[in-house]
Amino acid sequence: MTDDTHDRLLIIDFGSQVTQLIARRLRELNVYCEIRPYQKVTVESIREMAPKAVIFSGGPDSVTRDGSPRAPQDLFDMGIPILGICYGQQVMMEQLGGKVDGGKISGGGGTAEFGRAFVSPEGTLPLLDGWFKDDDNEQVWMSHGDHVSQLAPGFEVYGTSPNAPYAITADLSRNFYAVQFHPEVHHTPRGAKLYENFVRLAGFKGDWTMGAYREEAVARIREQVGDKKVICALSGGVDSSVAAALIHEAIGPQLTCVFVDHGLLRQNEAEEVVGMFRDHMNLQVIHAQEQELFLGKLEGVSDPERKRKIIGRLFIDVFQKYANEIDGAEFLAQGTLYPDVIESVSFSGGPSVTIKSHHNVGGLPEKMGLKLVEPLRELFKDEVRALGREFGLPDHFIGRHPFPGPGLAIRCPGEITRAKLDILRQADAVYIDQIRKHGLYDDIWQAFVAILPVRTVGVMGDGRTYDYACALRAVTSVDGMTADYYPFSHDFLGETATRIINEVPGINRVTYDITSKPPGTIEWE
Ligand code: XMP
Repeated sequence: MTDDTHDRLLIIDFGSQVTQLIARRLRELNVYCEIRPYQKVTVESIREMAPKAVIFSGGPDSVTRDGSPRAPQDLFDMGIPILGICYGQQVMMEQLGGKVDGGKISGGGGTAEFGRAFVSPEGTLPLLDGWFKDDDNEQVWMSHGDHVSQLAPGFEVYGTSPNAPYAITADLSRNFYAVQFHPEVHHTPRGAKLYENFVRLAGFKGDWTMGAYREEAVARIREQVGDKKVICALSGGVDSSVAAALIHEAIGPQLTCVFVDHGLLRQNEAEEVVGMFRDHMNLQVIHAQEQELFLGKLEGVSDPERKRKIIGRLFIDVFQKYANEIDGAEFLAQGTLYPDVIESVSFSGGPSVTIKSHHNVGGLPEKMGLKLVEPLRELFKDEVRALGREFGLPDHFIGRHPFPGPGLAIRCPGEITRAKLDILRQADAVYIDQIRKHGLYDDIWQAFVAILPVRTVGVMGDGRTYDYACALRAVTSVDGMTADYYPFSHDFLGETATRIINEVPGINRVTYDITSKPPGTIEWE
């Protein structure tokens, strides 16, 4: 969807792994941008979007290969400032009359280069204002096989590195800039400054703020929904919560939320979520108490995929049952985020293996004949959090760790029993309390306890115990796709184990899971 009231920037994706980071850097500068795969970008689509500037991402292909990705040639005559990055630089040079050499066959003095490099300035360039500290070297991240061997007419060199004589180039008369390195990655520590300068030179006002977004989103929801009704599956997670708050602001009582309590929630979770939305924010929330149904169907089931499938199917049935009671509902609200809708260029191809069947309500709209309202489709996770703050959702709620749809079922390997769930809830509450008390909660992507399907012998006081063992899990991650275990101190782990064993009847042994992902996954099932 193109927003037509903000300055807009178009990122043409040539398939770099880090294209999304470019968008992140720009959003941090309050610049609205959209990523579009190069195959979909035409002169007409550019005219329609009317971007104030364009960025060419990096990419894995070689411009020396026939049929490799290009930008629409006419774009270069539209008077729009362009910044090319890595492959984007090479595309610019190639399309504008320069030359690119492939691989390590060194032409104009450049070679393939992967990793840290240092760039030094050549003359002055407004794009570099405030970037080189004391005119010294600046660290950048290079990742390229090919290199430019001859600049396109009109371009000059403004920065070099030992292996990239054309590290920074520009054609000032056309406002075209092209760099060989990746300013968007962490390893180019001051790279954000280049984006800041680029958007300033292109005349951006920095008008993309959450306050403005809120007003526009409300207007758009009203226009889309009219006087019809909307239903929303409230999970208690940040995305569905913020989506509900936004839609409620737009259409008030036309929104009904359904909170499905499957008996696999954490301690006090249902009360907190329902209490906050129903009592404090005045939303209509149906608290679907379906613990018996879910736990009944899960009885005796220990296979992880079967558990997931049972929960997924029941969830849809239950949601449908409650939704059918809402007369005239025509829309289903979903907290879909921008990373889920970006159509990036994929060079990997091939079907991927199902590791876990993820729980979602994806098939619902067609099944129930509902249309979708997805008011967060343009936002990244941290923007959703910022929007949540605009609505006065408390920080401890907005910053909550992700919690999976199948809930505690996948933290209880083996058979699920009510007794085990009770123990798990208590242990989890103590663990999270410890993490909060030690000020570690926000450094961790996700932390939880899993109750293990083994009992072990212990001694407490003078007596023998024979109770469950549990595993603590805590990971750092950016997106949940990969993760590292969190390096707690031994003091923290010892204190936490002591508290859990003392405070939670039923557990007499605590272990810490030090598996990263891959090869592990974050959840145990
Ligand atoms: P894994 O265990 O696959 O988890 O490494 C990655 C992230 O996804 C969450 N997760 C889920 N979230 N429905 C969800 O909404 C699911 O079925 C589901 N399974 C895992 C997990 O908590 C972690 O954040």
